[in-house]
Amino acid sequence: MESFRNIVNSLCTFLFLGIFLHFASSMPRTNAKTHYHDFVVQATPVKRLCKTHNTITVNGMYPGPTLEVNNGDTLVVKVINKARYNVTIHWHGVRQMRTAWADGPEFVTQCPIRPGHSYTYKFTIQGQEGTLWWHAHSSWLRATVYGALIIRPRPGDSYPFPEPKRETPLLLGEWWDANPIDVVRQATRTGAAPNVSNAYTINGQPGDLYNCSQKDTILVPVNSGETNLLRIINSALNQQLFFTIANHKLTVVGADALYLKPFTTSVLMLGPGQTTDVLITADQPPAKYYIAARAYASAQAAPFDNTTTTAILEYETAPCLAKCTSTKPVMPSLPAFNDTATATAFTKSLRSPRKVEVPTEIDENLFITVGLGLNNCPRGARRSNCQGPNGTRFTAGMNNVSFVLPSNFSLLQAHQQRIPGVFTTDFPANPPQKFDYTGNVSRSLWQPARGTKVYRLKYGARVQIVLQGTNIFTTENHPIHLHGYDFYILAEGFGNFNPNRDTAKFNLVDPPQRNTASVPVGGWSVIRFVADNPGVWIMHCHLDVHITWGLAMAFLVENGVGELQTLEAPPADLPLC
Ligand code: C2O
Repeated sequence: MESFRNIVNSLCTFLFLGIFLHFASSMPRTNAKTHYHDFVVQATPVKRLCKTHNTITVNGMYPGPTLEVNNGDTLVVKVINKARYNVTIHWHGVRQMRTAWADGPEFVTQCPIRPGHSYTYKFTIQGQEGTLWWHAHSSWLRATVYGALIIRPRPGDSYPFPEPKRETPLLLGEWWDANPIDVVRQATRTGAAPNVSNAYTINGQPGDLYNCSQKDTILVPVNSGETNLLRIINSALNQQLFFTIANHKLTVVGADALYLKPFTTSVLMLGPGQTTDVLITADQPPAKYYIAARAYASAQAAPFDNTTTTAILEYETAPCLAKCTSTKPVMPSLPAFNDTATATAFTKSLRSPRKVEVPTEIDENLFITVGLGLNNCPRGARRSNCQGPNGTRFTAGMNNVSFVLPSNFSLLQAHQQRIPGVFTTDFPANPPQKFDYTGNVSRSLWQPARGTKVYRLKYGARVQIVLQGTNIFTTENHPIHLHGYDFYILAEGFGNFNPNRDTAKFNLVDPPQRNTASVPVGGWSVIRFVADNPGVWIMHCHLDVHITWGLAMAFLVENGVGELQTLEAPPADLPLC
């Protein structure tokens, strides 16, 4: 009898707790904050590699300000353009539920902010935790206009790992000893590949291995025994990077503001756009250790910046502190530039923390080729405008379409206001012609057609995309980024995707979720997502050189039913073209 009553009692407590928790999670949270910021985009003298450039920055800072928020918070950022270029800011990885107007890619969700004008981005972080970042999304301005966006759990929630003692964002960047806008303009004029960068940077500093840089090398302090969180962001323009720290293991716990099943590695690979959160324990003899990054260059025989950027992990208990130059930091070894095996081992280690709900039924099954191209020199063009390989001009595309941005209206505006003639909705779901994508591709397939084509998706459509790299001109690893969404990466492989053989490799249990997929060199990735965010969303290679050439397309996601499935009205200060 007594034990029966006990059982009833505990059952009641259990039920009550269950009901309470249910209400607690559905109650509106009142502790969400709104953060207001001004971003003044302006030319600022910045000295690197012995030379000062008039660099475009935000608030005079390079990299720009770090934004720190909690999940559920709202950001209101007024961008004031005091530079001589058009600008927009993209909040890379933020889902922007129903707020596509705040996404930022120029001519996709807004017209650029003209010099002397401003625009206020307003959006709420919903259900995202970890590290994202923001960057300019206009020409090559993001070379210097970028910063970290740190999203901590809601107040009262905790990380799914022991609370780190310190947190350090590490932004990996790329520096030209020139005006990056001049670099891309020259490439567009000549049709050749743009000049490669002169340095990589960590938090804006090249580090000890470059001229005139040593005294400004970034120091990352640690205490013996502590575990710290490093938030690593590849904000480089055109280069995938390997990242490592001498003598220390890295425990990966998240990527692209989504948690991962923790695993330990000594080296990371990040494509531009990607972020990785790692825990590092200071368990080595107190000393100085280099944090280092350099290129993962997968394209055969293509020039790349082969330099190495460093920062210093410094034990505060070390007998010899920063001022003392006698002890050199320990230098790690980095993978070879073409070490695809290491890059692949890394991306294949990513798993969601637990079983996830991957859509199993598919409404839209797309197969999209991603790759370069070479246009024959246009009739009447000068030799100087056709300095690509054998007198051609570089181009790129998806499914034989080289993406062209509109110039009078943004795609989102044209969609929402039903303005005809800005885009067409005939982006092909499959390559117009099947071919041996990663084999020897016939020259007749090297010239994509230019177009502003979108692919229309019904609200709630369950979408699968096979992203297939091509060997047009060369094979290469492509970091493919989709705006407005996180997607599951079910599988990746080399060669041509073969549905009969490769479907069996799909991870439908715990695939990682990201906003940027590293499509393997000469290979493919398969991604899935549910189209639950109405708007126009660009999907592109995050190597800016490839976007410049047209390696992009856009999805138009229709409204669903009711307000919560409908794109908000455009803000009153939305820039016009
Ligand atoms: Cu970070 Cu459209 O990109």
